[in-house]
Amino acid sequence: MSRQLHFNLFLHDTGHHEASWRLPESDPYANLSLAAHQHLTRVAEEAKFDSVFLADSPVLWSDPGRRPSGKLEPTLLLASLAATTTRIGLIATASTSYNEPFNLARRFASLDHLSGGRAGWNIVTTAGEAAARNFGLDEQPQHRTRYERADEFLEVSTKLWDSWADDAILADKQAGVHAARDRVRSIDHHGTYFRVDGPLNVPRSPQGYPLLVQAGSSENGKEFAAKWAEAVFVAQPTLRESQDFYADLKRRAVAAGRDPDHVVILPGIVPVIGDTEAEARELDAELERLIAPEFALATLATVLGVDADRLRLDEPLPADLPGEDEIEGHKSRRTLIVEWGRRENLTVRQLIGKLGGGRGHRTFTGTPVQIADTIQHYFENGAADGFNIMPAVLPSGIEAFAAKVVPILQERGLFRTEYTGRTLREHYGLPRPANRLELISR
Ligand SMILES: Cc1cc2nc3c(=O)[nH]c(=O)nc-3n(C[C@H](O)[C@H](O)[C@H](O)COP(=O)(O)O)c2cc1C
Repeated sequence: MSRQLHFNLFLHDTGHHEASWRLPESDPYANLSLAAHQHLTRVAEEAKFDSVFLADSPVLWSDPGRRPSGKLEPTLLLASLAATTTRIGLIATASTSYNEPFNLARRFASLDHLSGGRAGWNIVTTAGEAAARNFGLDEQPQHRTRYERADEFLEVSTKLWDSWADDAILADKQAGVHAARDRVRSIDHHGTYFRVDGPLNVPRSPQGYPLLVQAGSSENGKEFAAKWAEAVFVAQPTLRESQDFYADLKRRAVAAGRDPDHVVILPGIVPVIGDTEAEARELDAELERLIAPEFALATLATVLGVDADRLRLDEPLPADLPGEDEIEGHKSRRTLIVEWGRRENLTVRQLIGKLGGGRGHRTFTGTPVQIADTIQHYFENGAADGFNIMPAVLPSGIEAFAAKVVPILQERGLFRTEYTGRTLREHYGLPRPANRLELISR
């Protein structure tokens, strides 16, 4: 079969546009509603999406005065969604900087069992001082240190997931033997950041491990992705930058000894769909009018690593901003925003307008055919294996994408019309990982 697109729906209560909750049709409590998340996931599953995804950080992330900021814990929410869906993958974000491997490995193994092999983990290192201060630290660990810890975190987690052989459980009632003791192993890990004996207290799950997803695109982030990630979310504002990132990461995966097809690259896009071009542009403009610039300014200043009073709404970005090397936070997002502002010579107000929709992700505004054409163009020109769909307004944005864009791509043979696999890895065309401890013991 020819190569096909992969789609992930990035769940985000009333939508990815920061002003979406203010639209007349939006439920301002959707962020806390199981029914709202069930609806979004059902629409994505009926459209045969590979997965849905929840972002997360152990901190009050956005300004609670400005938009709905309460976030339910993602693995709990996805475990609830597992009960009302049957095929779609369920990807939760969790931080390697503010968790311990045993807890997280257990949580994701549990989600994989509960969902019948549909769990994914978006591995993040968590940028920002505010999160550090929720865990007894005065400042965040350095960027490099966070990624070193993440690397060891994955080493420990994968050993824990492998600590039960796939055939360990015998459930032999006659003999009174539930599991073969010699097929359940301790891991005895003694490293720089962790000491973990194991074994895990959850047997190996349907997928072996959850699907490993990653989303940081700094130098350290890309090295980490090349080694561990099976799917990568990325924010890229232009086709050219998407192509460069795509080629670079596939090259790094090969250098790390991996099959480049086993790293699925999914740029984020914000589809703004209208039956006519004018209608799509009007929806875009309506949302831009609802942005409260003073709040957006404060968010922008944090990412850029400057005080908000350094930014003037009707002037371009200051010339002397701190460089990527001088900040310890979201390095790649800072660079993307600065380059965008400079390239298009935008005022701070214009930049905020563009970021309001997708925080740096590419907005595709147009008719269903135009959006399908752009998706196909990226897919066939070395820029993407699929997309992380981030509608500006939910649920209407995913309903429109499912009803109007997906059928066009299906007709062109670019997207599945039925699920062929059962697990999340099968949807993404990825192999189930072998059990390393089992290989050693045989
Ligand atoms: C689509 C997408 C989703 C992301 N989701 C999260 C998230 O949920 N939590 C988080 O802390 N960072 C998230 N990030 C940010 C990165 O994972 C990363 O932590 C951050 O950019 C800093 O790493 P870097 O300096 O390597 O880019 C996301 C990034 C992208 C592109």
